[in-house]
Amino acid sequence: MTSLRLVMVGRLLVVCNCCCNTANERMRGREHFLLSLVMAGGVVICWLVFSYCASVSLNQVHRQVVLNHRLQSKQAQLMEPVRTDVLTVTPWLAPIVWEGTFDPQVIDEAFMSQNLTIATTVFAVGKYTRFLQDFLESAEKHFMVGLDVHYYVFTDRPGNMPDNVTLGVGRLLSIVRVPKFARWQEISLRRMELIQTAIKDHIHRGANYIFCLDVDMRFHSRVGPEALGRLVAAIHPWFYTYPRSQYPYERRTISTAYIPLDQGDFYYQANIFGGALEDVYRLTKTCREHLEVDKSVGVEAVWQEESHLNWYLLRNKPTKLLSPEYVWDDAKERDAKEIKLVRFSSVIKNKAEVRENL
Ligand code: GAL
Ligand code: MN
Repeated sequence: MTSLRLVMVGRLLVVCNCCCNTANERMRGREHFLLSLVMAGGVVICWLVFSYCASVSLNQVHRQVVLNHRLQSKQAQLMEPVRTDVLTVTPWLAPIVWEGTFDPQVIDEAFMSQNLTIATTVFAVGKYTRFLQDFLESAEKHFMVGLDVHYYVFTDRPGNMPDNVTLGVGRLLSIVRVPKFARWQEISLRRMELIQTAIKDHIHRGANYIFCLDVDMRFHSRVGPEALGRLVAAIHPWFYTYPRSQYPYERRTISTAYIPLDQGDFYYQANIFGGALEDVYRLTKTCREHLEVDKSVGVEAVWQEESHLNWYLLRNKPTKLLSPEYVWDDAKERDAKEIKLVRFSSVIKNKAEVRENL
């Protein structure tokens, strides 16, 4: 056994002796291989350590930014109300949005990361197409900036669209063809029906919120996500100091929009209302049905769909109210001290000239 092993070792030695040079080369090769392996391992370990450190420091930077931002936003003080000159919350605990009641940075931070799309309907029928350019240009500067906005322009004149309005990133415009109406009141009356149908047919697939705006308006200042809520309406700029018995509600009992003299919260203007799709769908559906009932008995509410909107909002309280900053009227002086800034307002127009009838 031992001799056999010796023989084998001897043979191996012989073999080794014979191939001495080749063996040395092999050894060197193996050393190189091991060296390369160690170096590669080192590189991998270094890379792992580096990327871990980098990610830690990036996280710290990120946290720092958030922290800095938080430090910058003013601390709310329970004993220091921000506005004492106006009502900032309704009796049913819905906020009323005024300048000074919110921090735009905090609002933006809360909403921007949610990838929201705001459908925005606007009716430009007949000669009202002339208002579109200013409306859109000013909306691009002030309306829901930083969010995705999909404008739906309802018009009977698709050929009269302004062609030189540049929409920002994430902003789209679609045209919805509507028939030409004989009277301006008809446009108002049909608005609820057309919005309801559009929500059902296509808007509901591509948006989180919807705002319904008048076209004969212009943005002057921010109207941002502070205006978003489930059901949102704006307080009319002409009647907010009036007792409710003097609001221009529909007062004839024959109309489904009838509101008795001793009822009512605020008088809302239909130039801007909105909310979550479901809630606005329900609103437009009810108003449409009521408008049709009225029509069948030959009644037209005093302020058309605005009267029905007011009836609906009395029974279905809005979850957020926009102060008259959000629906001002250029025909009204801006000297009221409670109006710190005008955000969106009706432009002065020659009614006789733009309307089909008086
Ligand atoms: C007017 C406004 C109308 C309607 C009316 C109600 O100032 O132009 O659209 O809201 O008030 O009285
Ligand atoms: Mn209008």
